[in-house]
Amino acid sequence: MSRGMFITIEGPEGAGKTTIIKYIAEFLQENGFDVAVTREPGGVPISEQIRQVILNKDNTTMDGRTEALLYAAARRQHLVEVVIPALEKGQIVLCDRFIDSSLAYQGFARGLGMDEVFKINQFAIENLMPDLTLFFDIEPAEGLQRIRMSKSREMNRLDLEELDFHQKVREGYFKVIDQSKERFCIIDASQDLAGVLSQTKNKLLERIKK
Ligand code: TMP
Repeated sequence: MSRGMFITIEGPEGAGKTTIIKYIAEFLQENGFDVAVTREPGGVPISEQIRQVILNKDNTTMDGRTEALLYAAARRQHLVEVVIPALEKGQIVLCDRFIDSSLAYQGFARGLGMDEVFKINQFAIENLMPDLTLFFDIEPAEGLQRIRMSKSREMNRLDLEELDFHQKVREGYFKVIDQSKERFCIIDASQDLAGVLSQTKNKLLERIKK
């Protein structure tokens, strides 16, 4: 089987991942790569339906473990329908969020335990970890401010958590990064878009050439 490359994009709220991912895809295509862009939770009808349940602002009674299991279920379906077939075709898969989001948000910020959350995800992903993860770093207060200012972005159930929760998310990400330094590239997302893109492109080409 020819095997593409699995690149995930991570970061706290308001880091600008959704905008940046489009530019990264264009940049890779211009450099001759076949690219598939997708996102979690969602990307296929079943996972998009699960996304609606998870992010619905009315679901205020959702238990933390239920939330973690729903993310893992959405991940599984998306992996089977989108990620694995694209990798088998030899494509570069750019995925907006993956397992590290669950480790940081549910494992650390919700306090479910990163090892516990890793275990249920292990069942969902069967060892298919990303080859590379781009982490767009921003102070949560600044990221949340950006979301509030953005007309195109509606606040979801997770966005509505207190600042303290989002600070824990960022701390959780750094714990994951500490354990898997080789897999991560950290990009300073507080710069203007041009700065973020230039740093991303340089790091990306370096890693892809390796
Ligand atoms: P998005 O805003 O990047 O589309 O992501 C939706 C929300 O879901 C965001 O607040 C992060 C959160 N999330 C988790 O808490 N755990 C996960 O495993 C994933 C993929 C996302």
